[in-house]
Amino acid sequence: MIAFFNGQYLAKENIAVSPDDRGFLFADGLYEVVLCLQGKPFCLDDHIERLERGAAQLRFPSTAFDWLKGVVEELLRQNELHHLDTVVYIQATRGAAPRTHTFPAADTPLSVYVTVRPFDQQPARKARQEGIAAITVADQRWARCDIKSLGLTANILACQQAQDAGAVEAVFVRDGVLVEGSHSNFAGVRHGKLVTFPACNFILDGVTRQQTLAVADSLGIPVALEPIFLRDLKEYDELMVLATTMKITPVVTLDGQSIGDGRPGPVVRRLQQGFRSLEAQS
Ligand code: PDD
Repeated sequence: MIAFFNGQYLAKENIAVSPDDRGFLFADGLYEVVLCLQGKPFCLDDHIERLERGAAQLRFPSTAFDWLKGVVEELLRQNELHHLDTVVYIQATRGAAPRTHTFPAADTPLSVYVTVRPFDQQPARKARQEGIAAITVADQRWARCDIKSLGLTANILACQQAQDAGAVEAVFVRDGVLVEGSHSNFAGVRHGKLVTFPACNFILDGVTRQQTLAVADSLGIPVALEPIFLRDLKEYDELMVLATTMKITPVVTLDGQSIGDGRPGPVVRRLQQGFRSLEAQS
C-alpha cells in the first residue's frame, strides 16, 4: 500500500517516523478519518476545515491543509482504489524535535501522514440495520474534546470496556449527561424530537452529526440541541450514534436495558434514508 508521509509517496512499510516525533512522544497532533464512496471522498471539505481549526487551536505554525485534497486523490490513484469504498486516515503532528514541553523551533515542519485502505461496508451496514448495544462510562477526557487530538487513551479504554461487555460503543457521561461516544456522537429521540448535545468543548462536532442535523431539518424532524440526561433516559424512544464509518447507527440497548421496543425506531430509519440520499447526491 502506498501512503503519503512528509511530501513523499512511499510503500507504507518503508516509512520511518522519527522517535522524536511529537506525535510519538506527546500525542501532540491531530487526525481525521474520511470515507470515500467509490473513490469519491464524502464531505472532505468539512474534514479539512476541522483539521485547520484544530491546527489553529493547537497553535501549529502552519494551519492550511487544503492541499491534502490532492494527496487523497493521488493516493486513491496510486493504490488503484477508485472503484472501492475506502477509508482515508490523515494525521498531522507538530513535527520531530528534541523532547521539551514547549513548542519546537517555528521552522520545524509538521509531520503529515495520509493512508487509504479498502473499507468493507458490510459489518457497519449490518449494525445500521439491526442496531448495536452500548454502555455508559464516566467521561475522563480533557475539556477540549472539540479538538480531534491524537490523545485518545480515555477513548480507547472506554471502547475496550464496551467490547469487554459485549457492546460496540461506550457513551461518555459527564455530570449526568450522555455527551458522546468513544468514537461517535450521540443522539436520541424524545417526544418526536431529535436531541443531541450542543457543539461545545465537551464533544467533537462530528461531520456526520452536522449532516444528520441537516437531514433532520430537510425532513421536518424537529431538533433540540440539549443535553440528554441519564435520569431522563426512560423518556427516549430511540437512541443512535453518529460517525464517519458508522454513519447513523441505532443503539438498541444501553447498559443492558432495551431502548423503546429494542429495535431500531422510525425516526432513525427516516434519518438513515435521508442520509443515503445525501450520499447519493454528493
Ligand atoms: N471518530 N466524537 C468522537 C469522540 C469521535 O472520535 C468521532 C469520530 C466522532 C464523529 O465524528 P465524524 O462524524 O466527523 O466522524 C465524534 C473517528 C471516526 C475515529 O476516531 O475513528
